[in-house]
Amino acid sequence: MTQIHGFIEPTRRPGALGVHSVDHFAFSVPDLKAAQHFYTNFGLDVRETGNQLELYTAGNPHRWTSIGEGPRKALGYISLGVFEEEFGRFQVHFERLRIARMDPPPGVESNGLWVRDCNGILVEVKIAEKSSPSEKSPFAQPSAVPGIRSAPLRGAGGLVMPRRMAHLLVFVRDVDASIKFYADVFGMRLSDRAGGGAFMHGIHGSDHHMLAFGQSDAPGIQHCSWDVGSVDEVGSGAMQMVDKGYTAGWGLGRHVLGSNFFHYVRDPWGSWCEYSADIDYIPADMDWEGKAHPPENSFYLWGPEPPPEFHVNYESPNAV
Ligand SMILES: [Fe+2]
Repeated sequence: MTQIHGFIEPTRRPGALGVHSVDHFAFSVPDLKAAQHFYTNFGLDVRETGNQLELYTAGNPHRWTSIGEGPRKALGYISLGVFEEEFGRFQVHFERLRIARMDPPPGVESNGLWVRDCNGILVEVKIAEKSSPSEKSPFAQPSAVPGIRSAPLRGAGGLVMPRRMAHLLVFVRDVDASIKFYADVFGMRLSDRAGGGAFMHGIHGSDHHMLAFGQSDAPGIQHCSWDVGSVDEVGSGAMQMVDKGYTAGWGLGRHVLGSNFFHYVRDPWGSWCEYSADIDYIPADMDWEGKAHPPENSFYLWGPEPPPEFHVNYESPNAV
């Protein structure tokens, strides 16, 4: 890969057909003001456009999320980015697989290809710049030399502001079918799986997972994850949310699958927003061997017990 003045040339795997990024995702909530308060305090750049909110990260022009208003919190769609040269190949690919093409949701302007996945989730495939990283994201946890104080005074560190969206974990009805569908139809690959969870990466170079699945009886958003540069930022992010009243969370901890340090904050609708640092990276020229692991020792390496509601899909009509 070539680095010129901080610009990283997007990596790609020649010849292979596959999406390169989760470009963005969309969902609805009953109260946009609550969403604005939550995501602003999380450290995101929340912009009002028309009757919806859009989530950006500081200094990055990419729109990661669209949030509309609806009767309840509900996943709207997932948008996957492809290189311009591959778009026509995807059209042919979908026709060959006899995947029915759908219309975009009302009010969404799009030149993309819209399909429903095996769970009924609406998915767009569109030409987009590669928003997944093309190298491992920088991570640092500096140690002071002797005679120098390392930690700043509390509150002196400023607001934690994630650098980019890292991944999205959606509830699905059938994890095995979803792994196969996203591999066969969108060219993604399995990184690892354990119990009712599976983690997928992009073939053109991405984090260990840019999309993940969790077993449920209905589609839904379990969490979205946002990349920060240090363990300190993970912990400080958790504290900045506690200071604003978002006291329910899970962390600090370290995952096994993906290896990232994490803290999850419970959002106003019972799903989760993750500060993530130092997630594993799978380069475009590597064939990562997807494996199944025992869930009891692959979910997290260390950290507190997850709260029982961590795995509850509040978008399911059967959620209690
Ligand atoms: Fe995550």
